[in-house]
Amino acid sequence: MADQDLVPKCVSESHVTLSVLMNPEHANALGNVHGGVVMKLADEAAALAAMRHSRSPVVTVAIDSMTFEEPIYVGNLVTLSAELTYTGRTSMEIRVTVTAEDPLTGSVVHTNLAYFVFVAIDRQGHPHPVPPLCVETPEEQLRFQQGQERQAQRKQRHQRELAERQQTNSES
Ligand SMILES: CC(C)(COP(=O)(O)OP(=O)(O)OC[C@H]1O[C@@H](n2cnc3c(N)ncnc32)[C@H](O)[C@@H]1OP(=O)(O)O)[C@@H](O)C(=O)NCCC(=O)NCCS
Repeated sequence: MADQDLVPKCVSESHVTLSVLMNPEHANALGNVHGGVVMKLADEAAALAAMRHSRSPVVTVAIDSMTFEEPIYVGNLVTLSAELTYTGRTSMEIRVTVTAEDPLTGSVVHTNLAYFVFVAIDRQGHPHPVPPLCVETPEEQLRFQQGQERQAQRKQRHQRELAERQQTNSES
């Protein structure tokens, strides 16, 4: 399918909400929920949103700005909310927010925020085009613009890192 034939899709069409009860097997040595567990769940929620948008297999190409603002405890109900903020030609940025609810008291705290970039791939593992994101509200428009800026920074960083690696290799 040619790029121009792709029908734009709205943010709400691929929104994902995932809730998981934290059990003892999710704990670290302190007895709180392990950060890696939250990262994995966030990656899965983001991947599902990217698959819903592209209706294609996807791979993670970048994760940044993952914050851990409050601890999560065994017994909490963790809820992850994932939605697209930006699409390039083959890449999609997904914003994931995480909350933890104590089901005994009803208290809900915001615990994490992260941005993931996924790329849609074909059967050969090559990047392929995704539908453009239609942004409807002023908030979605702002998030799209911020996502575009973050993606431009990621590309610059990636190019710098490639150049540094080549320089190191040529010196050794
Ligand atoms: C993702 C992958 C297919 C991209 O291949 P590639 O040859 O770099 O392809 P391109 O250079 O055409 O980049 C494809 C898109 O990814 C984006 N991209 C590539 N590297 C990036 C990075 N470090 N950060 C953000 N975006 C990046 C490009 O900007 C491009 O987006 P666009 O089409 O919207 O402009 C390849 O790097 C890969 O297979 N990586 C491993 C993925 C993986 O195993 N993930 C973990 C398990 S899911």
